[in-house]
Amino acid sequence: MALSERFDPRTHRAAPGELAGRVIAITGAGDGIGRAVALACAAHGAQVVLIGRTVKKLESVHAAILAGGGPEAVIAPLDLEKAVAHDYDQLADAVSERYGRLDGLLHNAGVLGTLSPIEHYDVPTWCKVMHVNVTAAFALTQVLIPALRASADASVVFTSSSVGRVGRAYWGAYAVSKFAVEGLTQVLAQELENVSHVRVNAINPGRTRTLMRRQAYPAEEIETVPLPESITGAYLALLGPASRGVTGGSFEAQPAGGASSAASSS
Ligand SMILES: NC(=O)c1ccc[n+]([C@@H]2O[C@H](COP(=O)([O-])OP(=O)(O)OC[C@H]3O[C@@H](n4cnc5c(N)ncnc54)[C@H](OP(=O)(O)O)[C@@H]3O)[C@@H](O)[C@H]2O)c1
Repeated sequence: MALSERFDPRTHRAAPGELAGRVIAITGAGDGIGRAVALACAAHGAQVVLIGRTVKKLESVHAAILAGGGPEAVIAPLDLEKAVAHDYDQLADAVSERYGRLDGLLHNAGVLGTLSPIEHYDVPTWCKVMHVNVTAAFALTQVLIPALRASADASVVFTSSSVGRVGRAYWGAYAVSKFAVEGLTQVLAQELENVSHVRVNAINPGRTRTLMRRQAYPAEEIETVPLPESITGAYLALLGPASRGVTGGSFEAQPAGGASSAASSS
């Protein structure tokens, strides 16, 4: 059985300092799951590059990391809907100049778009969702590959969803974008396997208490939904040394059944 089939990031308990010395970039680091993972990475010793579009939110995460005694993070404002080639190049240059390498890259930023039948799906919304969730992640990965290759042990993690594995009516561009993310993960993993120290995997966070979840399920009792802080362990496992040698896989952040059942998770 391949290593990626045996590996389960949910069972990993990160040791203190497990990510010490690692440089990890996270998109959508200002809120929701991205914020929680950024704080957890820093708490385990990583230097975090906080990528996002709302600088105020990134500043708040930066301050929380400092207050928690973590290594100083850096803020990299980037609007994935509007960014052009120059913005991506600037970010990649800044990472290379400051650190000389990148050890982890979590593509977490995402947008839901609208829940509507394909027959009536708004075309500009479709384009925006596909752009932010897929094309921007591809473009960012592409410019950062040299920095990832410069690491002795690098990990790229894309964020998937239950609806990116089995289609679901009315989830439109969001579902299709997550299928594309799964495909991008597989293609890139194969391309980098055996010719680099860069592994590439996908993670499905499962239902998690964030703004996106509220947007998708406005009538839900949000208190019943797990907090982002409760799922960070699986992210640390995939971003850090625990997953060395694991590539091309697609993993769950929460236990099967309750937390990420197909009936209610996004
Ligand atoms: N929550 C769930 O139940 C669930 C389930 C399955 C998968 N996911 C996936 O998990 C990931 C994180 O979602 P979440 O639940 O934490 O949602 P969230 O709280 O809405 O956070 C989304 C993050 O993405 C950022 N973002 C959105 N558009 C952006 C843009 N154009 N440029 C840069 N950053 C942008 C947001 O920045 P701002 O704060 O500045 O808007 C925010 O930081 C997403 O990929 C989502 O699809 C979530």
